[in-house]
Amino acid sequence: MFRRLMLSAALAAGVSHGAFAEEQVEVLHWWTSGGEAAALDVLKKDLEGQGVAWADMPVAGGGGEAAMTALRARVTAGNAPTAVQMLGFDILDWAKEGKLADLNAVAEKEGWNSVVPAALQAFGKHDGKWISAPVNVHSTNWVWISKSALDATGGKAPETWEDLVAVLDKMKENGITPLAHGGQAWQDATIFDAVVLSLGTDFYQKAMINLDEAALGGDQMKEAFARMEKLRSYVDDNFSGRDWNLASAMVIEGKAGMQMMGDWAKGEFLKAGQKPGDDFVCIRFPGTQGSVTFNSDQFAMFAVGEERQEAQAAMAASIMDPKFQSAFNVVKGSVPARTDVPNEAFDDCGKKGMADLASANDSGTLFGSMAHGHAAPAAVKNALYDVVTRHFNGEISTDEAPAELAASIAAVK
Ligand code: BGC
Repeated sequence: MFRRLMLSAALAAGVSHGAFAEEQVEVLHWWTSGGEAAALDVLKKDLEGQGVAWADMPVAGGGGEAAMTALRARVTAGNAPTAVQMLGFDILDWAKEGKLADLNAVAEKEGWNSVVPAALQAFGKHDGKWISAPVNVHSTNWVWISKSALDATGGKAPETWEDLVAVLDKMKENGITPLAHGGQAWQDATIFDAVVLSLGTDFYQKAMINLDEAALGGDQMKEAFARMEKLRSYVDDNFSGRDWNLASAMVIEGKAGMQMMGDWAKGEFLKAGQKPGDDFVCIRFPGTQGSVTFNSDQFAMFAVGEERQEAQAAMAASIMDPKFQSAFNVVKGSVPARTDVPNEAFDDCGKKGMADLASANDSGTLFGSMAHGHAAPAAVKNALYDVVTRHFNGEISTDEAPAELAASIAAVK
């Protein structure tokens, strides 16, 4: 409808159809929560300011599984969207299929090679060609705590697993749901990222990145599942299927004590008018201080007809603009995908996110998030989702889970 209106306006103004078509992008994404939509609006407005119209293709579902299914159908039908929000290994898979555009002209003009960290270039480039534009860096090992609920437990943020359990117990005693959680596989797996990392960076590296069978099936993994089982005891009875942003709302409204979620959750707190330090507290998952499990949203550009390439290049250049990276990420909860963006506009959690990312990168403790597609390809991620979720729902025991995980991953890797 919007497109038709714009088209007739363009025609009435004597602009040819071809000229209009150059100035439109169709964007597939899963940014449908309040905070996500607010951030998306920064991008839409930026493009519209340059005369590039936006055709929206939202497919709800955190982690992007549903969006990726919709994408596959579109590409199979020979009708790929212009740009697609995408994570890590999914980008490389599409590049290997030869479906993505070559963005080297704009990347060279704008100097992307020297400002985008190597960890992101590993997913934004294939065979020496830029194929997607990274808009942010998120990380999954965060906990978002209601300030008033924390104060009611004594006010000290937990630093170790034992502290965490003590705070959760106290919240339970205080009569609130200690842990706000949505029972969806990707949310269970998001907590699992942090739990595995809390058992050591070597363990995360071996199990989640190297997919080492002994690490996946061994005693440390049993401890990870034991921690998941313990966390499961702090969620409310209605957790099944709940969307992540509704879990955030429970913390925002003081009905629950905390949420273990990537920093897109901060976007919800901000959208609700809350401030870090006053209304909520952000900490790294206890035991993971100094380390980061990251995921970066990139806009992969599909190889499309010449008439849409100019708009694609305009979108890619906009995304990589340092001012835009600041404005967007302040709202989204993430941090910039460039190393040269000042931190002034960011709140304390954002400043911490930027500092943690830089120091983890320097000290070799920056890892791709398994739950969000940056540790292993989709087949492995899905195998892990399945085991973690069945265990969280009590279908497999903590004793059985490591062997099941090792076998499921061995079968698909
Ligand atoms: C994306 C975030 C998004 C979150 C929840 C993650 O996979 O990287 O941008 O906000 O899913 O939808």
